[in-house]
Amino acid sequence: MFDIKEERTINFSTVIQGNYYTAISPDEIEYQEQALICIDSQGYIAEIIQSGDANYQEVKASASKGDYLLKLDDDQVILPGFIDLHIHAPQWPNAGVALDLPLEDWLNVYTFPLEEKYKSSDFAQKVYEDLVQELLAQGTTTALYFGSVHNSGNLELVKACLKYHQRGFVGKVVMDNPEQTPENYRDQTAAQALTETESFIKAVFELNESETIPATPVITPRFLPSCTDEALLGLGQLAQKYDLPVQSHCSESDWENGYALEHYNKRDAEVLDQFGLLTDKAVMAHGTLLNDADIALFREKEVGLAHCPISNVYFGNAVLPAKQILQNGNKIGLGTDISGGYSPSIYQNIRQAVVSSHQRYEGVDAELDPQVRGTKDDILSMKNAFYLATVGGALSLQLPTGEIKAGCYADLQVVHQNWTAFQDESPQMRFEKLLYQTTKENIDQVMVQGQVVASKEKNNADER
Ligand code: GUN
Ligand code: FE
Repeated sequence: MFDIKEERTINFSTVIQGNYYTAISPDEIEYQEQALICIDSQGYIAEIIQSGDANYQEVKASASKGDYLLKLDDDQVILPGFIDLHIHAPQWPNAGVALDLPLEDWLNVYTFPLEEKYKSSDFAQKVYEDLVQELLAQGTTTALYFGSVHNSGNLELVKACLKYHQRGFVGKVVMDNPEQTPENYRDQTAAQALTETESFIKAVFELNESETIPATPVITPRFLPSCTDEALLGLGQLAQKYDLPVQSHCSESDWENGYALEHYNKRDAEVLDQFGLLTDKAVMAHGTLLNDADIALFREKEVGLAHCPISNVYFGNAVLPAKQILQNGNKIGLGTDISGGYSPSIYQNIRQAVVSSHQRYEGVDAELDPQVRGTKDDILSMKNAFYLATVGGALSLQLPTGEIKAGCYADLQVVHQNWTAFQDESPQMRFEKLLYQTTKENIDQVMVQGQVVASKEKNNADER
């Protein structure tokens, strides 16, 4: 008789031996030492064997003998790969530019003129290959991207994700409202925007043929001000026809929030819903000015929220009550919002999410009495923020990733601690220090669906 476990052992393509952290709820982080993470030939975590388990030595010995055991050093730890739920790929060359302007001016003066350049495939290819490799090196294994208006550039972004094996979700941006978009950077008509969106979807499906990590096309109305009703309606229909994710911006700033009230006499969220754009595969960015009814609507429709804490400092006009939205049971993850956010690192956004939440609690105006200075609402903890960057993102995109657990994709990052320990450090201390201290330099290896996509050795070899 065959022992089933024995048979599966033979099929593992990699076994990683090491310490890991994974979020099992918003407030609970599991830590395991010297576990064996067994990855199958399809790139899934088939099984995790803990050091006390009966078959531990046997699996380890056969992996070592078969030369597929990756034993980590004591100062290394495995985390799930991060998920960036909101990033504007074409804005990468402007990361950190003109963030002192209000959103509307920043879009018109800096952002739209840059995005217009991506009608050139050459320019697009150069930037996108750089960005995708950068994100992988930063530990981001899945990204939900806004492209630009032009499919010539958007397809280069899809190709870059496929080439470097990042789990990419990519949208052709729709912006056809002549009153709110520049003459030289817009969809000429709603009909054309819809045709181009449909041809983008089909082109992505074609590029995906024979790929093990396919890219996903995403329905992408930029935001209400930049779209006509006809485009919004057609995009809602395309989302349904192809059963695709949707992404947009919602209640990001007083200006945008005010636009819906002024033009539709409705909330931003209500208008998007009316056009069929709030689905259980939709991810709305920012949401700093959502009210309780909007948040309830998102929960009812199972819409994900991309919390972009760095960008929100500049353009959000308020601090998102991320902790309360998480406690409310909404789907919520983290986004860098390049280049409204200056950093491509989800680590930096984890930190800012925690920092902003503290400031929301404390308030900012020293003239006020401490009792009324801040909200005194619960603060987002480091554990909560790690959950957002991993599980929260995975739930929003309906993906089996973001956790170190049997049945999930082996989307992982190996990091090493960059400090000398002068005292005994508990797993909890190391977890918090890792999330506060890790930079790109400490990320040794990144894996998407079992394939190594970034590694320090590889980078060094490339440089030579
Ligand atoms: N709203 C519409 N477009 C954009 C954009 O590119 N960035 C941000 N942060 N908000 C937007
Ligand atoms: Fe954005």
